[in-house]
Amino acid sequence: MQGKRILLIVGGGIAAYKSLDLVRRLKDRGASVRAILTSGGAAFVTPLSLSVLTEERTFTDLFDLKDEAEIGHIRLSREADLIVVAPATADLLAKMAHGLADDLATAVLLATDKKVLAAPAMNVRMWEHPATKRNLATLRADGVAFVGPDEGEMACGEYGMGRMAEPQAILDAISRTLGADRTAPLAALRSLSGRHVLITSGPTQEPIDPVRYLANRSSGKQGHALARAAVALGAEVTLVSGPVALPDPQGVRMVKVETAQEMLAAALESLPADIAICAAAVADWRAAGEAAQKLKKQGEETLLRLTQNPDILATIAKPSPGRPRLVIGFAAETENLIANATEKRRAKNADWIVANDVRPGTGAMGGDVTQIHLVTAAGVEDWPSLSKDETASRLLARAADALAAKRSAAE
Ligand code: C5P
Repeated sequence: MQGKRILLIVGGGIAAYKSLDLVRRLKDRGASVRAILTSGGAAFVTPLSLSVLTEERTFTDLFDLKDEAEIGHIRLSREADLIVVAPATADLLAKMAHGLADDLATAVLLATDKKVLAAPAMNVRMWEHPATKRNLATLRADGVAFVGPDEGEMACGEYGMGRMAEPQAILDAISRTLGADRTAPLAALRSLSGRHVLITSGPTQEPIDPVRYLANRSSGKQGHALARAAVALGAEVTLVSGPVALPDPQGVRMVKVETAQEMLAAALESLPADIAICAAAVADWRAAGEAAQKLKKQGEETLLRLTQNPDILATIAKPSPGRPRLVIGFAAETENLIANATEKRRAKNADWIVANDVRPGTGAMGGDVTQIHLVTAAGVEDWPSLSKDETASRLLARAADALAAKRSAAE
């Protein structure tokens, strides 16, 4: 995103506070940001907060002679690579769909020939209203791109679709939208466009009887974040996931499974792939034969007999002509982290192992933050503690670089 110029339009919704975080993330990645606040937007965040974060003047009023004299609405649009509307309220979307231009934000949106990405945010009833649906269809037909909304608790106390996408998801959508621009040199370098990335995610559930199963604490957050990061780099992504409580990432081919055996079959069916990332916490054992009826207590006797599950990572990474060029495994360990991960890399023939400490208290299992050590043929890299999203973005960028290096070495 280095050097990209984003024009951010902040509409009048409580989600406007998340746009401040979005600005910070964009700036961290080297983008420059200018912001326009609608009058509604200015009721939720101040021009001062936006100016401090963007390090630019924040624009508000079409009829502020100073604004128009110094930098008109046409120039604001011309000097941007992408216009992002976040939050895009029902009212703002309606104005955009009908070509109204009664303030600076809508005048810029009507005057622009640049790509527009909107992050809708509104109450669930407004989102589901036929008028909003019509407006959305019109805007899609006009070429406006969308990210979100998400489902969840709303500020008004209701539950449903309409929460603005999280800043990281908007950031991913921005880099995807910019990546579609072939003139972007960094996007071209780091692109996974035309590449197939296979990712396993989440836990597996191994049935014991009709009501019980063996499982583990994996949330699937890291695997799903990897899928989003791969989509952001333009890859075709197959996400094979065990049962998780997460929304399906946009733009992936989703295959939902329950058991390790189903996960293996789905992964093998999805090959060939250029990159395979096994982030799933696959159960090592399953019950030896699922009982047809619910098991009953039988005194002291141990009822459960276990049998070992196939190793999906080792199966994919086995040397073969169709082997993905980069196979990445994960090693969640509670002791001897690096030694175990290094041994796992060798035993499973993986190219890289992402080792992370999952001792209780680290928050890695099920949490949003993780600190990894990347074990490659060249040695061990200790990465800082980062969000799972950021870890995923950096890992996929590294994978894209490695693939490009392998290709140029082969040429
Ligand atoms: O041996 P361990 O389960 O610690 O290895 C972890 C790595 O191996 C992860 O990448 C995990 O997805 C993968 N794995 C697998 N199939 C299994 C067990 C682990 O793909 N049955």
